[in-house]
Amino acid sequence: MLLPRARHRFTATGDSPRHDYELTVSAGIAADAELIPVGELLQAALRPATGLALPVGPAGDIRLAIDGSLSAEAYRLRVTRDGVEIAGGSPAGVFYGCQSLVQLLPPEIHRRARVDGVRWTVPVAEVDDEPRFAWRGTMLDVVRHFMPKHDVMRFIDLMAMHKLNVLHFHLTDDQGWRVEIRKYPRLTEVGGWRHESAIGAEPDAPGDGRPHGGFYTQADLREIVDYAAARFVTVVPEIESPGHVQAALAAYPELGVVDGPFEVWPKWGINPNVLNAEESTVQFFLDVFDEVMDIFPSPFIGVGGDECPREQWAASPRVQQRIRELGLADDSSVQNWFIGRLGERLRERGRRIFAWDEVLEGELADDALVLSWRGMAGAAVAARRGYDVISCPDDVVYLDYRQSDGPDEPIPVSIPVTVRDAYRFNPVPVELDETEARHVLGGQANIWTEYMDSPRTVDFFAFPRLCAIAEVLWSGAGGDEHDFMMRLDEHLRRLDAIGVEYRHDAGPRPWQRRPGIQGRPETRAQREAHIARLLAGLPGA
Ligand code: ACM
Repeated sequence: MLLPRARHRFTATGDSPRHDYELTVSAGIAADAELIPVGELLQAALRPATGLALPVGPAGDIRLAIDGSLSAEAYRLRVTRDGVEIAGGSPAGVFYGCQSLVQLLPPEIHRRARVDGVRWTVPVAEVDDEPRFAWRGTMLDVVRHFMPKHDVMRFIDLMAMHKLNVLHFHLTDDQGWRVEIRKYPRLTEVGGWRHESAIGAEPDAPGDGRPHGGFYTQADLREIVDYAAARFVTVVPEIESPGHVQAALAAYPELGVVDGPFEVWPKWGINPNVLNAEESTVQFFLDVFDEVMDIFPSPFIGVGGDECPREQWAASPRVQQRIRELGLADDSSVQNWFIGRLGERLRERGRRIFAWDEVLEGELADDALVLSWRGMAGAAVAARRGYDVISCPDDVVYLDYRQSDGPDEPIPVSIPVTVRDAYRFNPVPVELDETEARHVLGGQANIWTEYMDSPRTVDFFAFPRLCAIAEVLWSGAGGDEHDFMMRLDEHLRRLDAIGVEYRHDAGPRPWQRRPGIQGRPETRAQREAHIARLLAGLPGA
């Protein structure tokens, strides 16, 4: 959310200094023991640019408190000329109130060294605010291009500033394996890098001849999890299965259906190489998930489930034999059998499956959380069948899609998704009744990084569309677009001060373009036909 939209009221205009609260050398943050960590984050946010010490302790003119009558993430912010009161239903609510307070200060507050000549004033205000959705997420693909740890933590800061609370961390795929697994070190030794990357979106795109790789140690990941948790962001890991696994096959070819050797895939797209149906392969992945669950306390654990071709299972006498042994109906049941086996282990450890909407095509545990990505069809089908669901329709929140239909968009793929389109996101399918709609826990943006070869490029694709999506997830769909665009204009000054290299409304800057690199743009009709083909196997879609 940018500036609070819903349920708030500014009681005085900010242009009269007498009606402002001003941070001065005597300012301090009052917090009791439970809120000291939140108070210290506020101190850290306010201190560099102002140069003020802002001690956190029993007394101060910025007062943080828990108010048990508020819902957990709700907050009440009161600014008078004498001070600021932030009450939240839990430390998370207080934290969100602090984010709003920071937004009410001049944008220079985001600079990380002292800024002279600015009066650090906050307009007198009353804000009562709470989120519309519990799941306010972003998926970050750190496989197609690795994101170094410190950039991941910067991204978490940006999420928290926008009151987003779930980082869906896409850690494995055909092009790389990014999580250290102690029992199977070759996953990162071999799977952690590829010899080159395709440049462009065409199937025959040339390779760049440059090795690419990187992985997080378990200590790195614990640090990321704790850093995120302090900012009320839950990191939900995703280990892809039973497709999108070629990096694992490169390390351990015995997991595959066909004979190796395999390379960590240097291309983009859907890869035919999938897992076999051996008990030893299930056991391997159970070991992997055990280590993953030791690192990530998230109640949900991503198991993949998207875009898994069945041709190798159909052609393999051994897989056909396993299908008979296991009593499965046919090739199409292998995927959900595999995911079901993983799900049993997750449930033993008190976790729930989190998987892409293809899993609705087979048997699925009742407590699975489904990600509707092929438009909103999966959200409607899942909710009607009683599954909890997260909406992330490709045509609204896929942030790898081009940001306009202009010729300068870098490596343009699929349809244009503008910031205004992103603001029109409605996570709840309109055809659902109230009971069904309660299964929609929220939504998320998905940042696939095939064409984002650096954190700078992620900035360009993510912002400002992620600001629009964050506001919908916090304040609800159907907001006034004109009003949002005006507030966004102000908000971009904050992103400037932080150093976020967002896409400007006028178009990509020269250094944000990729002249001569082929994308794969589609018209809306082409994309709809493509999604309809993908949904052919989903009953009720
Ligand atoms: C996906 O975009 N393959 C989930």
